[in-house]
This record gives sequence, structure tokens and C-alpha cells, in this order.
Amino acid sequence: MAPVAVVDRRWSVGQNVDMTDDRGAEVVLEHIMTTRAMRRFTDAPVDDAVILECLRAAQQAPSGGNVQPQQYLVVTAPEARARVGHWYGRAYHRYEASLADPAEFRSDDDRRSWERTRDASRHLADNMADVPVLVLFLQPKIAWGSEDAEGPLDIGRLDASVYPAVQNFCLAARAYGLGTALTTVIRVYTAEVLDELGVPADRYEIAALVPVGYPIGRFGVARRKPVEAVTHWNRFGDRRR
Ligand SMILES: Cc1cc2nc3c(=O)[nH]c(=O)nc-3n(C[C@H](O)[C@H](O)[C@H](O)COP(=O)(O)O)c2cc1C
Repeated sequence: MAPVAVVDRRWSVGQNVDMTDDRGAEVVLEHIMTTRAMRRFTDAPVDDAVILECLRAAQQAPSGGNVQPQQYLVVTAPEARARVGHWYGRAYHRYEASLADPAEFRSDDDRRSWERTRDASRHLADNMADVPVLVLFLQPKIAWGSEDAEGPLDIGRLDASVYPAVQNFCLAARAYGLGTALTTVIRVYTAEVLDELGVPADRYEIAALVPVGYPIGRFGVARRKPVEAVTHWNRFGDRRR
């Protein structure tokens, strides 16, 4: 697939759209429904301008109090990718070894699906350094929440204000024909990775590491629980089938 050209459109704050324009629904939904973890990539280079456009989409994500807490660290230099890849591989293999193999599967399809994900995850772990672009989503270590005379106010976690940006990024990448995978096991070696990339480890942690490249394989609809089985109407337990 030929690379998709960068959108030639100026985005301006406050810009309104034609509310009767429904041309986007089909393609937007198709992209959402087919954005899944892609873990095998070609070595075709990815244009920095495309990455920036995807980060622009990330930056439009919602955040609590509109604090926009995240910073993006785009890693393209081969030696830096090698360092990140090294720590990712170590973290992933430790994590995989810590998991118990599922004792049994409900069906052969389930077993094959599990094996495909495991093989793809191992492939990514062993080849992270060769993915053309690695984007680290950094989140600041700041006090979050509030309190009043009655006590602490739980307003949700700070990372809830970062992951929408990650998903926006992945969706925008999908629109450009780029595969991504939201990964987090690198957190096992947060201190090492941040140190190697010059990030002050006392001020930031890693919310996600997203490898980006043109995928080997096709985008498609992934297996999920049926939405009806996990949707309750008005009262927990009241489902519509
Ligand atoms: C919070 C979070 C952490 C994840 N961490 C990893 C990871 O470290 N490595 C990895 O290969 N995939 C990781 N994934 C990807 C999931 O395995 C993937 O989304 C899930 O298996 C569904 O994949 P599918 O969309 O291709 O069906 C993570 C996903 C999320 C949301």
C-alpha cells in the first residue's frame, strides 16, 4: 500500500464544521473497528510529518481539567531505538515467563487466537529496535486529585488523561495506513529507559510505548466479547440481547 499523503489542511482553534456532513461516519467507524494491535512491520520509513499529524490528533484528546499532562518522545535514531528495544525485550520476556499458560481453551479458535497473539507479541519483543518509529507517551509525576473539608475527592487517575491521547494517535496512524500497538511492559525498566533518553525520571513515568510502522498483514476486526453481554440498561444486570 502506498503511503497516504499528509492531510493538507490547517487546523485552527475554534474552527467549526458542517454539522450536516455525514460523509465521515462510514470511514471513521471502519478505522475504529479495525484499529487493533499490529506487531509486525515492514522497514519502510515513516515520514516525520505524518507522525506529527498523528500527534496533533493525540493532542486533541480530552484530559481532566484540560491539563493535557502528556509529553511525547519520538524515537527514530537507530541507536536510541536499539536501547528501547533492548529494555522492551527484557521486560516482555520476563513478563511472559511470569504468566501461567492457560490450562484450557473453550475452542480451537480461541487457542489459535491466543497462540497468534503470543507469537506476534514475541516477535515484537524481539524486533522492537527495528520498528521505524517508537513513540513514548510520558506522564508527569504530579499530585492529582483534590480535597475539600469532607476529605479527599477521587476524580479519577491521571493516566486516564493520557490514554485517550494514545488511542487518538493510534487511530490517526491507522488513517495513514500505519500500524501501532499500545504497549506498557517497558514500565518494568522505566528508570533505565528514561535515563538513556535523557528524561528526568523524578518528573516523568512512561504511560505507553507505541511502535509505529507500515504493517505486515492487514487491518481487520478483532475478536471481542459481544457488546450486548457487557452492556446494562438502567440497572446493572438488565441486559438486552
Ligand atoms: C494498557 C495496555 C497495555 C498493553 N501492553 C502491551 C504490551 O506491553 N505488549 C504488547 O505486545 N501488547 C500490549 N497491549 C496490547 C494488547 O495485548 C491488545 O490490545 C489486545 O491483545 C487486543 O489486541 P487486538 O486488538 O489485536 O485484538 C496492551 C494494551 C493495553 C490497552
